[in-house]
Amino acid sequence: MNAETKIRNDLGAYWMPFTANRQFKGNPRMIASAEGMYYTTTEGRKVMDGTAGLWCVNAGHRAPRITEAVQRQVEELDYAPAFQMGHPKAFELASRLAELAPGKLNHVFFTNSGSESVETALKIALAYHKARGEAGRTRLIGRDKGYHGVNFGGISVGGMVNNRRAFGTLLGGVDHLPHTHDIARNGFTRGQPEHGAELADELERMVALHGAETIAAVIVEPMAGSAGVILPPKGYLQKLREITRKHGILLIFDEVITAYGRLGRAFGADYYGVEPDMITTAKGLTNGVVPMGAVLASEAIHDAFMTGPDHMIELFHGYTYSGNPVACAAALAALDTYREEELFERAASLEDYWAEALFSLKDKPGVIDIRAVGLVGAVELEPFADQPTKRAFDTYLRAWDMGVHLRTTGDTIAMSPPLIIEKSEIDQLVGTLGAALDA
Ligand SMILES: Cc1ncc(COP(=O)(O)O)c(C=O)c1O
Repeated sequence: MNAETKIRNDLGAYWMPFTANRQFKGNPRMIASAEGMYYTTTEGRKVMDGTAGLWCVNAGHRAPRITEAVQRQVEELDYAPAFQMGHPKAFELASRLAELAPGKLNHVFFTNSGSESVETALKIALAYHKARGEAGRTRLIGRDKGYHGVNFGGISVGGMVNNRRAFGTLLGGVDHLPHTHDIARNGFTRGQPEHGAELADELERMVALHGAETIAAVIVEPMAGSAGVILPPKGYLQKLREITRKHGILLIFDEVITAYGRLGRAFGADYYGVEPDMITTAKGLTNGVVPMGAVLASEAIHDAFMTGPDHMIELFHGYTYSGNPVACAAALAALDTYREEELFERAASLEDYWAEALFSLKDKPGVIDIRAVGLVGAVELEPFADQPTKRAFDTYLRAWDMGVHLRTTGDTIAMSPPLIIEKSEIDQLVGTLGAALDA
């Protein structure tokens, strides 16, 4: 082996994100290519993508329209400055998203990831209240078990303990609603859980404690994905909407996972019939092909900034790559693909079959709960004594060896296949998980 090859193949330099680096490097799982529902590993093994990458490849891998659009765009306009300049595709994409979004959410701010969408929405919330003369509204409220990306605002309002505990004091003035995960009352419920809407009333307690005039926004995932697919109890999101509206508090839905068809509708807000003031998105926006996020904000929020002298910047926020032309081309092609292939409708039509298949795992060893919505599913396992997360991780590794890629969070196995999945592939995915649990 010559020196160059040695350097190229050394696994040491890459510090991998959210990865057990030493475990991985001892037994690497490397992907060489992908198409549709499948990866091919560097050893030439075909592995089904049971998670749409990281919940983002909704149209399947290498969807042709998106590939072509990106290739064309790189040839035509690779980059354009995002500040005090524009290019047509950014405006076209914003208009398309405004049209797709529920109700009055018709202004769009571009970012490059889910984490940046969250930071953007939190900052817009604070600046919105200030612009309206309510500068005292600085408190942000998240929820236990919430995942809002990895930047400081997001981990401050987030509620996944390991994502927070190594990183100091975080943002001040943040409070957390209780989570709604309750296996004792809601275990093995098909559809939305019956119990837990009253947990939204905790917000009234916070209003009483802190004063509504100090609270800027509440941020929740309509369906908490990263904490293990936790569905909102019946009536819970409606209650949050009522209470936030009553007290002039903005409601932000973090839809980085649920937007763009994952639940069989364009947005989780549509699926659950609740319209927030802002929606954060990323992932499926470009089908994962180019990093991009978008924050959808209501007319009222946007208009509150459009005051003062015309030559002044209204919001001191933005990224070098906001509305990057290649990302915009990918997103426009992704939206075209979703529409022309009717993928949101497809996800909706598969929802029952998917849930039925997952619930067939009810009596497998170690299974303590199963949850499903849209084309998202979770199988929660009884943790091994003194070895939390190991049971799920072992199951994941076995399934990988058997040809299916899953995801674990804690002792929960999470699944979110591309929306192009066939019924026979659902059987294969769930059957392989069943075999991995048996093993
Ligand atoms: C709800 C939610 N918000 C934010 C993020 C962060 O997105 P990103 O990894 O693109 O920064 C995620 C990622 O999974 C997410 O699920």
